[in-house]
Amino acid sequence: MPALAVIGAQWGDEAKGKVVHAVARGAGMCVRFNGGANAGHTVVDRWGTAQLHLVPSGALHPGCRGVLGHGVVLDPWALEEELALLRAQGRPEPELLLSARAHLVLPHHRLREGEAAGRLGTTRRGIGPAYADRAARQGLRLADLVDPACVRDHLARMGTEPAAEVAADLARFHARFVDRIGDARAAIASALAQGETVVFEGAQGTLLDLDLGTYPYVTSSSTTVHGIGWGTGVRVKLDRVIGVAKAYTTRVGEGPFPTEEKGEMGTWLRERGGEYGATTGRPRRCGWLDLVALRYAHEVNGFTELALTKLDVLSGLDEVKVGVGYRIGGRRTDRFPARAEELGAAEPEYVALPGWREEIGGLQDWDALPGEARAFVQWIEGAVGLPVTLIGTGPGAEAVIDRR
Ligand code: IMP
Repeated sequence: MPALAVIGAQWGDEAKGKVVHAVARGAGMCVRFNGGANAGHTVVDRWGTAQLHLVPSGALHPGCRGVLGHGVVLDPWALEEELALLRAQGRPEPELLLSARAHLVLPHHRLREGEAAGRLGTTRRGIGPAYADRAARQGLRLADLVDPACVRDHLARMGTEPAAEVAADLARFHARFVDRIGDARAAIASALAQGETVVFEGAQGTLLDLDLGTYPYVTSSSTTVHGIGWGTGVRVKLDRVIGVAKAYTTRVGEGPFPTEEKGEMGTWLRERGGEYGATTGRPRRCGWLDLVALRYAHEVNGFTELALTKLDVLSGLDEVKVGVGYRIGGRRTDRFPARAEELGAAEPEYVALPGWREEIGGLQDWDALPGEARAFVQWIEGAVGLPVTLIGTGPGAEAVIDRR
């Protein structure tokens, strides 16, 4: 199965790290094409819990090269820190290739984020300002690190402080990674041409896409399947496009979230699901699965299948609700609106499905699930029109029901 994509179908935090890690077993390459260290992909394996922000999740498998395409904005300090933490767990160093065309996130980007950070609830990782400099054609790219004078001029022009220290850090980073900075586009194209399995790992989720998400409460990159061409320069014929959705919904930061549960139910989901940000530690807003949003994500990405994660979190409920439509200004719709204000005014309509009491944590066998849990999954399959091929039943890498 040469090319597959794993794409968030909600507002990020869908447990994509675990899904990518599962499908990348035996793959030759795993590629990040968007976002930066704002992502927090968690993988729990025999080495422990890895919180990945830039290293592609599949690259934790020995033999699977991790590639950062030019659509990624790369914070060199964050990458070094991440690699140090992986090393401290006793893991072998992941094999990495960093696109020379990728833009750097520099200290002034974080400083410039101030106002937007509050208004939008960003991760404060300098992501928006780094992409803004890229679009304004005033960014610094990995390829530029070869030229210290260019780096010094750039830092002076952007008012980066302390300039000498930052320049020295960048020179050290360049010396360490020089052999791993290169033509990511050509490497991906060649891996595909040779029939290697290549996994494209989306960061954030469809509803956080700069254009297709809930603008302006979005991130600054292309988070959908369309981001693969945008962020790698390779025209990829995908064999599988796996949409990842939690069995409920979460969102961090500001912005509309129609099926949000602000009371006890939301707290229950947050505590059972451990819904605190992997990057920022912020409590996530929690609510029910939203089929309007999920169908929209399917329309945008053309998923071939769904991975439904964290099903175990829902054990213990009498009924499980699913949003099936919105009422906006007194009118019913099942379309996902373009304006955040309109989505913010949407009142969801729900169906309630029978819940199940049994704990299902760690189950690997479809037939071992309670009937109600199986009926819930099958109902979603029917409602979205996609097979659910993977079901997450716990944080560990082995806690998966694989139905393929
Ligand atoms: P930024 O990407 O830091 O600019 O943040 C913009 C919005 O995207 C904020 O609402 C963040 O909380 C959200 N966001 C960014 N990265 C992630 C992620 O990996 N998971 C979930 N939300 C994210």
